[in-house]
Amino acid sequence: MKIIKGVLFLLFSCYGFYGYSQSAINMPVKNMLLNGTIFTDTQGNKVHAHGGGFLKSGGCYYWIGENRQNNNLVACYRSLDLINWEFRGNLLSRNSAPELESANIERPKVIYNEETKMFVMWMHYELRRDYSVARCAVASSVNIEGPYTYLGSFRPEDNMSRDCNLFKDSDGKAYFISTTRNNLDMNVYELTPDYLHVKSKIATLWPGAMREAPAVVKKGDYYLMMTSYCTGWKPNQGKYAYSRSMAGPWSLFHNFGSPTTFDTQPTCILPIEGAQSTSYLYVADRWDPAEYPNSSYVFLPIIFKNDTTLEVNWVSSLSVNCIKGTFTTKINSPQYCRIKYRLSDNYLSPQPDGTIGYKGLSYKLQTLKWILSEDKEGYVRIKNQESGKFLDAKNEEAKVVLADSLNLDSQLWKLKTNQEGWSCFINKLTRKALQMERSQQQPEYLIQSAEIEDVNRKGKQQFLIAWEYQ
Ligand code: GAL
Repeated sequence: MKIIKGVLFLLFSCYGFYGYSQSAINMPVKNMLLNGTIFTDTQGNKVHAHGGGFLKSGGCYYWIGENRQNNNLVACYRSLDLINWEFRGNLLSRNSAPELESANIERPKVIYNEETKMFVMWMHYELRRDYSVARCAVASSVNIEGPYTYLGSFRPEDNMSRDCNLFKDSDGKAYFISTTRNNLDMNVYELTPDYLHVKSKIATLWPGAMREAPAVVKKGDYYLMMTSYCTGWKPNQGKYAYSRSMAGPWSLFHNFGSPTTFDTQPTCILPIEGAQSTSYLYVADRWDPAEYPNSSYVFLPIIFKNDTTLEVNWVSSLSVNCIKGTFTTKINSPQYCRIKYRLSDNYLSPQPDGTIGYKGLSYKLQTLKWILSEDKEGYVRIKNQESGKFLDAKNEEAKVVLADSLNLDSQLWKLKTNQEGWSCFINKLTRKALQMERSQQQPEYLIQSAEIEDVNRKGKQQFLIAWEYQ
């Protein structure tokens, strides 16, 4: 009965929605989200909602996020199934207020205030030239789809404020969480009852730990906060902590996902309250540091082992049963990988002289793609996708080269992977490990080292195999 009521509610409260948006434009209805791909809306246009958040209103899910196209700043989409997204307009643009003319707006989030019946948006405000302004800004509207009144930017209690998020508690109190002190610390502020101002700062979390991209959810008696480390557009190891109160004390950090969190950075945690169960999605941006417009989205189920222990695993595609609150997922087999150095944000890439150096992350760059194939004894051959050549340890100066395919032990590598997901590569012929070196001429390049380090020690011999599954 509860399910039938739920279906009827969704159909009538968002009535005509699919009838209009799908058939008029004739875009096929999608049944799965393909993680790490460029999402398109029901008109076939790219979804511009990075650093975004979600809100359920009038029976629909709304997705509100960054739109960096033309003079737009914040875009709004809606959906019944979290898969097919209809563009509903831009909520803020450079024309919305004089202060927004030269602004850069990041991580906008909207919550609803039951008392004032207003939708309130908080966001990160900068001027386009750099990140030195470090303010937040607020806008509000009686309608989720706008028009929004822009209320101005400021530093909460005079504190710098960059990556940010909102959290609305079950008692109606709302909190603004933002990275401060040049990204060293994270502040938690309680908002005034109308959500338009900061009431007071209630905590400074993890001084000096450089956590950002906060996303909060409440599970049972606990608040859980997922964050990333501060490395700009480059992905790093996601961590979470928990507490019985937003003011703390918060637990120690626990890792989730791979050492680059499957190449993502958190933007929010989306609870899906169904008739059967409440499920939780980790929603993240997969930024392309080489090209912002090539950034994509990743939605992954959060598996709660209990109220304070969670796990996030990779899935290639996902569909959500919003009525039941359940997911269907699919995992494709890995096609190729990028290989990241542990001690820097760089990835293995061939150099013109045939040795191996590095390049920064870019999802389009072919030279970063490697194909690993394993033999019966568990040794892998490592082929560069672009050149078709193999990683070869047979080089007198100990430098590792790319060579034509030969049936030689120097092209066979044994992988030793530690619990965190970092791997050490040991060559079958030389019995030496692959090691990243630096010199004045070549900032990062590969050698084979005589001494094999402990795989659990953070060091030059550690690499991440970042798989790509599409
Ligand atoms: C990240 C942040 C993004 C964006 C980016 C710019 O650290 O999470 O929202 O500000 O830096 O480099």
